[in-house]
Amino acid sequence: MYIIGISCFYHDSSICLFKDGELVFACEEERFTGKKHDSSFPHNGLRYILDTYNISLDEIEKFCFYETPTLKLGRIVKNYIRHPISSFSFTKQSLINWYKNTRTLRKEVGDNVYYQPHHHSHLYYSYYTSTFKDAVVVSVDGVGETDTATVAIVKDGKFTFKPLMKYPQSLGLFYSAMTSFLGFKPNNGEYKLMGLAGFGDPHLYYDKVSSLSMKHFVWDKSNEIMFNENLSKALGIPNRLPEEKILQVHKDIAAATQLVYEHNLFSLLDQVAKETDIRNLCLGGGCAYNGVANGKIKNITPFTELWIPPAPSDAGSSVGAVLGYLRHRNGFAHRVKETPFLGPEYSDEDIINQLPEVKLKKVSDSKLYEIVSQELQKGKVVGWLRGKSEFGARALGHRSILANPFIDGTRDKVNSIIKKREGFRPFAPMVRYDVQSEYFHEEDYVPYMNQVVNVKEEHQHLLKEVSNVDGTARIQSVTRTENPTIHKLLTKFSETSGNPPILLNTSFNVRGQTMVLTPRMAYDTFISTDIGVLVLNNFIIIK
Ligand SMILES: [Fe+2]
Repeated sequence: MYIIGISCFYHDSSICLFKDGELVFACEEERFTGKKHDSSFPHNGLRYILDTYNISLDEIEKFCFYETPTLKLGRIVKNYIRHPISSFSFTKQSLINWYKNTRTLRKEVGDNVYYQPHHHSHLYYSYYTSTFKDAVVVSVDGVGETDTATVAIVKDGKFTFKPLMKYPQSLGLFYSAMTSFLGFKPNNGEYKLMGLAGFGDPHLYYDKVSSLSMKHFVWDKSNEIMFNENLSKALGIPNRLPEEKILQVHKDIAAATQLVYEHNLFSLLDQVAKETDIRNLCLGGGCAYNGVANGKIKNITPFTELWIPPAPSDAGSSVGAVLGYLRHRNGFAHRVKETPFLGPEYSDEDIINQLPEVKLKKVSDSKLYEIVSQELQKGKVVGWLRGKSEFGARALGHRSILANPFIDGTRDKVNSIIKKREGFRPFAPMVRYDVQSEYFHEEDYVPYMNQVVNVKEEHQHLLKEVSNVDGTARIQSVTRTENPTIHKLLTKFSETSGNPPILLNTSFNVRGQTMVLTPRMAYDTFISTDIGVLVLNNFIIIK
């Protein structure tokens, strides 16, 4: 029996497939279309599922949608009543979009749809990918239907939901609006703000940023902009335009924004912790990508255990929608297998067919690890595509660019020559889990790059190419069971070079593009950049 989950029309559209109660496929639509954060109905994902699993639409027991359109309509109308004049054209556009989207969904999948409240989708996805029995599950994002933050306390299999913050108040929209004020694209450049924050003094603008209110923001009145001129007046500078130089003042405002976000998040978590003695925390919602804040949760809040799934934003909600349906149907749902590798994979035959003009050389597994380790040792940058693509925003070793972090200048080389992105943006290390605590102040398993932790003082110089300016790093723990090929590569690299089993890992794409999905996309990126080695399954191409 097949069930399909869908999340779309806002950002990070995705689709997933459950077969006999088990999650077997999940992928963002952007990976197929190449359009970053694609929000359109996942036509390509649906076609891929029907073709690959050889099923027809009438074999689908249920389509599950990640939010409830009628609740969303209620929010649009309520918002209009609050500001009938200033939000007139915003409301008109919101109603047109709402109508178009509900009609598209009905046209594509018919009436056999289970609709679930937005934050419940986040919460179910986060909880059912964890290993906790009892847990506090918190979702924080821009906006669902009406809530912008929600908690579920899960005890003995029972979920008790409670809204924590309601629209237009929103931690996620605040962060996105400040992202936009600093010249980056909202719903896309938030991680740039987070990276920039490391270079600023958070205290210089803290008072100003923490006292901002809806007087300075217009996300409830406009589709085009998120802030008004009051924000410039309050901060004493004009908003930065995208191509303008980044000044120290922008870094200081970014730092203050990050600190204000953290204080608000921690205060929400403290408030929730007072209501229960459960100390296991699951996070969901787009804000759960804020690794800097996440890395401090166990030190600052009462929670002692933390779980964040690989795709906490709306992409993961396609999975959460199905989990909610299964609970609705059966009274319970099973845990989802803990893996981010849920997308398309390509056979050797696919690779040969996609690259007819390329003379491909296939090597054995052991030879592959040996050659790649030697090339990394020489300073070559490696494009690596093997296995099923990652679900979630992070490349975790199936669609990755890998480099040797023990060579000076590696970060600049990958940033400027290959990724072609801003120089201030740091790279992250993948580390074999058994040695992680020798180099980082973190003993727990952090497989999805969603926590920034401290590098041990004595290793900060050694790991400077994969650390942030403040001596922290967004680690990826690698184990043999979850990520066997990368585990083998780290081991071989360490044996060959004498360095620790740590590599620089970043997503396989250049600036402005989505992570590559197919061997064709990977090869085209390889050819157009200074990536020196390309690995496609066991085929290896060296420039
Ligand atoms: Fe969301």
